[in-house]
Amino acid sequence: MKIAIGADHAGVRLKDGIIAVIHSLGHEVEDFGCHCSDSVDYPDYALPVCEKVASGEADRGVLICGTGIGMSIAANKIPGIRCALVHDLFSAKATREHNDSNVLAMGERVIGPGVAEDIVRIWLETEFSGGERHVGRVSKVQALEEKYSLHP
Ligand code: RB5
Repeated sequence: MKIAIGADHAGVRLKDGIIAVIHSLGHEVEDFGCHCSDSVDYPDYALPVCEKVASGEADRGVLICGTGIGMSIAANKIPGIRCALVHDLFSAKATREHNDSNVLAMGERVIGPGVAEDIVRIWLETEFSGGERHVGRVSKVQALEEKYSLHP
């Protein structure tokens, strides 16, 4: 798969380790920064990653900030994005199976690199369960997005 990744200054150290894990799993990575520890704004990094995923140029996206919260809020404003904020292994699997999440957000200030790397492995390797229940619920989420979209 092709994976787009981005982080703000509070997630940039974790990003480097995650890139190595994604490569080790045989996936391609496009890194949208940031590349230094100067203070930056998380929406500026959520946007290019999510645009790549929404357009289909990337299969999935990974976003990291201090808490993961800002990144996940910003990501979920972009039509077509189902971003999951995940800090445990159970949720990493469940959000792929049930929500078909296409972007993963994590907080470098919340979890250590070992857990974060395992989350990424599980999240990348787990398929959407599909089936009437989950497909129907994801469709209802898409309907919400269409109802409130400024650019339908
Ligand atoms: C930066 O200090 C921090 O606010 C940001 O990385 C993120 O945690 C926001 O949600």
